[in-house]
Amino acid sequence: MQTPEPVAIGTPLSLAATRVMLLGSGELGKEVIIALQRLGVETIAVDRYEHAPGQQVAHHARTLRMSDPQQLKALIEDERPQIVVPEIEAIATSVLEELEAAGRVRVIPTARAARLTMDREGIRCLAAETLALPTSPYEFCNSLGDLQKAIDGGIGYPCIIKPVMSSSGKGQSRIDGPADVEKAWDYALAGGRVSHGRVIVEGFIDFDYEITLLTVRARAATGEIETRFCAPIGHLQVHGDYVESWQPHPMDPIALQRAQVIAKKVTDNLGGQGIFGVELFVKGEQVWFSEVSPRPHDTGMVTMITQWQNEFELHARAILGLPVNTDLRSPGASAVIYGGVDGNALIFDGVAEALAVPNTDLRLFGKPESFVKRRMGVALAFDQDVEVARRNARLAAGRVKPRLAQAAGKDR
Ligand SMILES: Nc1ncnc2c1ncn2[C@@H]1O[C@H](COP(=O)(O)OP(=O)(O)O)[C@@H](O)[C@H]1O
Ligand SMILES: [Mg+2]
Repeated sequence: MQTPEPVAIGTPLSLAATRVMLLGSGELGKEVIIALQRLGVETIAVDRYEHAPGQQVAHHARTLRMSDPQQLKALIEDERPQIVVPEIEAIATSVLEELEAAGRVRVIPTARAARLTMDREGIRCLAAETLALPTSPYEFCNSLGDLQKAIDGGIGYPCIIKPVMSSSGKGQSRIDGPADVEKAWDYALAGGRVSHGRVIVEGFIDFDYEITLLTVRARAATGEIETRFCAPIGHLQVHGDYVESWQPHPMDPIALQRAQVIAKKVTDNLGGQGIFGVELFVKGEQVWFSEVSPRPHDTGMVTMITQWQNEFELHARAILGLPVNTDLRSPGASAVIYGGVDGNALIFDGVAEALAVPNTDLRLFGKPESFVKRRMGVALAFDQDVEVARRNARLAAGRVKPRLAQAAGKDR
């Protein structure tokens, strides 16, 4: 396979700079930016609101709506990055395809991958129909009537209804009987990112556990693109949002092999260079493909404490055409810290107490605005025993107490 040469790395803020633009600059983008900066890359952080986490650490910050094709095109033409790295799904991917085809930018991993994974439809059809990977039974529906028909016609109960375009469980519900269908339809429409009026209904998979298999496509010393896997990451989702993850998740060897085969097929098809978070459901030896992010994955934040090269460093290296090492350094875990309150300018009490838990670390993302259920930070822990690591990550996360600055009246 013909693969690009490693990217020449220049000097930031000079004529010889290697410029990389992050489209989306949340907590995951922030870590990618830090990893790129450590390799001497000039970074441009783009988000839809000011002072996004990644904007706080990048050389340049731009704020605009990336789902607007005109704004996105003007931005890329103005900043002229060599490489564009999507971090979110809601991007005008037609612009990326156009600029990539014209040879103006490289899109990570590819503009087509960004388009196919931008909503649930492209990637589900690719996985289930084109690649014939095992998935939950599913249908796409445009109306409440269609939805009821799909359920009665074979999907059955329980089932899961999700907006075609959403993430972190937004607008998603599980329903157990006909009484809940209308509520789930309304909830999906309200929770979708762009009001498409289209949902996916999926048969419920009664899995034993679910994993993220981080899969890296990177240039090997031979010049070929090689696929490497990280150790499987187990995670716990509450209402479709990740609250805890750990690595490695113990797996039946046949299930692990099947998981890797599925991940290889889907990432081979999406192509390009970079890391992918392949989400899989597992029951005994059986494995189902669920979805894939062509970028670092939120559950993969655990790799900041478990791997020699975390998922952000792996992404940065793969993007630049550099060799990667996906080895585990120690088992470990992550636990999410939610805002707990709605408001701006939080103060985080208990940080010292949290870090007093053995073998832990913290990331506070610096998001300017908090919501009760917004992810504001993550606690990390390592231990030879993954269960001990999980307990310590939870303990550390629980000791961090976000509060509104005004509430206490005695701040700073
Ligand atoms: N068909 C399904 N059967 C069982 N659980 C599911 C199914 N689809 C989703 N889930 C649960 O909901 C979580 C979020 O769903 P997912 O499709 O990954 O949405 P998102 O794009 O918001 O992450 C999954 O990680 C899993 O725990
Ligand atoms: Mg998911």
